Amino acid sequence: MEQNQTVTVLQAQEYHAAPLVCHVFVLVLCLSSAEDFDWTKNDHGSFYYGTFPAGFSWGAGSSAYQTEGAWDKDGKGLSIWDVFSHKKGKIQQNDTGDSSCEGYHKIKDDVGLMKELKLNHYRFSISWPRLIPTGIKSDHINEKGIQYYNELIDHLLENKITPIVTLYHWDLPQFLQERYGGWQNISMVNHFNEFANLCFERFGNRIKYWMTFNNPWSVAVEGYETGEHAPGLRLRGTGAYKAAHHIIKAHAKVWHTYDTQWRAKQKGLVGISLSGHWGEPVDISNQKDIEAAERYVQFYLGWFATPIFHGDYPQEKSYIKGTCDFLGVGHFTTRYITQKNHPSARSSSSYFTDRDLAELVDPRWPDPGSEWLYSVPWGFRRLLNFVKSQYGNPMIYVTENGVSEKIQCTELCDDWRIQYFKDYTNEMLKAIKDGVNVKGYTAWSLLDKFEWDEGYSERFGLYYVDFRNKNKPRYPKASVQFYKRIISSNGFPNQREVENWRRKAVETCSTSNQLLAADPLTSHMEMVTEIVVPTVCTLSILLSAVFLMFLLRRRN
Ligand code: NOJ
Repeated sequence: MEQNQTVTVLQAQEYHAAPLVCHVFVLVLCLSSAEDFDWTKNDHGSFYYGTFPAGFSWGAGSSAYQTEGAWDKDGKGLSIWDVFSHKKGKIQQNDTGDSSCEGYHKIKDDVGLMKELKLNHYRFSISWPRLIPTGIKSDHINEKGIQYYNELIDHLLENKITPIVTLYHWDLPQFLQERYGGWQNISMVNHFNEFANLCFERFGNRIKYWMTFNNPWSVAVEGYETGEHAPGLRLRGTGAYKAAHHIIKAHAKVWHTYDTQWRAKQKGLVGISLSGHWGEPVDISNQKDIEAAERYVQFYLGWFATPIFHGDYPQEKSYIKGTCDFLGVGHFTTRYITQKNHPSARSSSSYFTDRDLAELVDPRWPDPGSEWLYSVPWGFRRLLNFVKSQYGNPMIYVTENGVSEKIQCTELCDDWRIQYFKDYTNEMLKAIKDGVNVKGYTAWSLLDKFEWDEGYSERFGLYYVDFRNKNKPRYPKASVQFYKRIISSNGFPNQREVENWRRKAVETCSTSNQLLAADPLTSHMEMVTEIVVPTVCTLSILLSAVFLMFLLRRRN
């Protein structure tokens, strides 16, 4: 059956032929500079049994706002996400990250989980307002925040887990948003550079992998264009482009700071983590569809990667070009893309109309969790090969890849996640065989956590977190057992063994499910010991005192 007969329309985008902002011009320029990526060759192939290169790094990830909690503890300043999530109606169920997984108080427990998985690395982010409450370094540095990250880093290293640190995973200090308009303002470049410099100074003796930004696409588009994310601004047609422009400059500045002031001593690497869906042409024999699919990918990745790798950017070409020691790639899903063929209003420009295309999905693609997340493993291999051909085969760390579930009831037997990890890591292995320089893989995420505007309704974790219980206990899902096997075998030995892993993983999860089912009872017991017992004791003491006084009076 033809591909275009099997797809359904997911989202229709408006037609707009005259983008206003210079970035789009840049994107158009880079379309013509595409090298040898072959859009017409999509070989899905069968499952590949084999191993990853020796030294391949396996990890899991998290981010500060999504897991730490302790939003107002120990001198931390407010971030835009603290403020945004406290506004009614912004987040599913009005959830907030106030306490989230209580990761701030659970360093040892969580490193224990990483050890259980035998991870080689852990990717986390540093909360800017936890270190610098207003965001402006000369105002005040919060030593307690420094201490927290010191403990985390030291504990990871003691356990032979390499920390990979993101400097900005979306939690801008609120003060900078209020005073300057956040990423709409060029002054963020210097403030961010000062924050980064502080991190290099305090933690750089132990950190070898830094990432400036996580998924700047989302910061720009969802923060300043659609307003679904903090700071919730809807500056259609300009907001995303301006934010991205300042982010690219800030990234380059931080890279230069490291390069000139710290690299010789600390010998680390500075990269950026970019995220993008893969876009596959609906009809690979139609040039218009190929161009539309390429636009789709360029509007995700190329927007940031082209200036950083090729310097094809106005004014600051040489300053920005080459400011990436490695590329972080976050990837979850794929779309079919076709040329938009019904022109509509030209009046309202936006990032989405500028792309000038339509997205489609195949109804047969599994979609166990988030509405946008269809499991399409072959798209991952295509994306990795695209990065290789477009940006000169850079060193890649996969910084995010994973799948969520929506199921509200407690469910630890996540067979669909096992399938997702198995197939996506296998496509990554094929990409490595194709010659893509992937050095590490980060499963997203270690724990269930605050999923931005979706609150706690979407669970990405390898470990289930019981958010009803104030201690936020963690329980392994079946995928923990499976991922652990991939890590210990550094790949997929043979069909029989891999099927065995899966069977065993699903067997053990039912035991964990029983533990979790007993959790309301445990919480009840905790309430008894924490509230009822002290209250009864106090009352008994009071009553005895009254009774004693009564006896004494009677005697007198
Ligand atoms: C990308 C974001 O960086 C991450 O924070 C989020 O949890 C995942 N997407 C899943 O939506």
